[in-house]
Amino acid sequence: MPDSVLPENPALPENPALPGNAALPQQPAQPRNPATAWALKHMPLTAQAVGELAPVLAGKRLAMCLHVEPKTAALVTLLVRAGVEVSLTGSPGTTHDDVADSLRELGVTVFTRRADGEADHRRNVERVLECEPDLTLDNGGDLTLSLLESGAPAGYLGGTEETTTGGIRLREAAEHASPVVVINDSRLKLLVENEFGVGQSVVQGFLNATNLMVPGLRAAVLGYGPCGKGVADTLSRLGARVSVCDTDPMRALEAILNGHRVGTAAEIVSDARLVFTATGHANVLGAEELATLPDGAVLAGVGHFAWEIDRAALAARTVRTVEYGAPSRRTGYVLDDGRELVLLDEGRMLNLTAANGNSIQAMDLGLTLQARCLAAVAAGGLAPTVQSVPAPVEHRIATDLVALLK
Ligand SMILES: NC(=O)c1ccc[n+]([C@@H]2O[C@H](COP(=O)([O-])OP(=O)(O)OC[C@H]3O[C@@H](n4cnc5c(N)ncnc54)[C@H](O)[C@@H]3O)[C@@H](O)[C@H]2O)c1
Repeated sequence: MPDSVLPENPALPENPALPGNAALPQQPAQPRNPATAWALKHMPLTAQAVGELAPVLAGKRLAMCLHVEPKTAALVTLLVRAGVEVSLTGSPGTTHDDVADSLRELGVTVFTRRADGEADHRRNVERVLECEPDLTLDNGGDLTLSLLESGAPAGYLGGTEETTTGGIRLREAAEHASPVVVINDSRLKLLVENEFGVGQSVVQGFLNATNLMVPGLRAAVLGYGPCGKGVADTLSRLGARVSVCDTDPMRALEAILNGHRVGTAAEIVSDARLVFTATGHANVLGAEELATLPDGAVLAGVGHFAWEIDRAALAARTVRTVEYGAPSRRTGYVLDDGRELVLLDEGRMLNLTAANGNSIQAMDLGLTLQARCLAAVAAGGLAPTVQSVPAPVEHRIATDLVALLK
């Protein structure tokens, strides 16, 4: 990596004198948590973006809702260094309390705790918004919608939204007087994070959860969108024999051209030792498919909701269950014909339940998109609508990523 492209220690402004950051230490903020320090070390794109854009971001109050874990903490550390005043909450059940505490030590206002439920989450969102933000960074739409409902403060410039679901909610909301950029609409993010990031981390989750061997394994993947493609292609590269089912013929064709066997769901699961569902749709592995699965097959989820495996159809044929215990929940369903099917972590996203979620580099890309889009909002000039990532931002980050990886 040439230094001129991505300096290891990007130049950051020396403690800008800003009202909200009066208590900041005189040295650039350092992560107090080792996992955050490790993440930060591997996030050069985010570091470069925040350093470069500090003149636009400095002095802004940012209300933020994102999973509070080391990669998010690395972004927040960089923003604090750049002179941004951050008020933060997370999503229910995903907060790393040690990471949250370490950010508090850094002077960040953090409201979330891992034990928080939905009611706590709503209250946390309200408290985050008490900072009267200039900018928002949201994950799911709760923060931005709450701000719009209560009336945005006079200086509010707009924000970003991480998820497609949040983007849909915000597009359905009434009038927008400020821009909101939906990060997940990015082609770049779909490629790097959904395909390659999810592919690797789901396979990592499978290995952690089962301690089984991938080379030679017969695997079936339902859905060949970016996530299913990532999983199928990663398994295949490791020597698994992969079959794919996608109801979209273009995607089925793409799977064939990438070397996978293609068939209906019932066909491809009939000899599979491992089945992943990555369609985003409910009950795609139903009674017909369950009837053809071989004894001992392992079933796992990739899609956002744990509804892709038809639990009612599974229960209807189950005579007893067996729990195989830690490290993951491995539930054997013994069926009325004697076969046993093993469901991992109740069909929830295996890369989150049994691995560390997306890799640091995949999140480096996603959080760089966040930083550069926030700066684009702060700089003005974006239309007051819910919109995709501006093309120049994607182009810039793709160029940097190529320079980093080539
Ligand atoms: N685990 C994670 O970390 C993670 C990350 C991002 C997205 N997701 C989730 O993964 C899921 C897939 O995401 P994506 O970006 O690949 O979505 P996508 O919509 O682009 O792809 C889904 C594919 O499934 C196919 N499909 C739909 N119904 C089907 C059926 N009955 N049988 C076979 N194929 C079917 C569609 O034709 C499509 O090609 C979503 O639920 C998404 O929210 C998970």
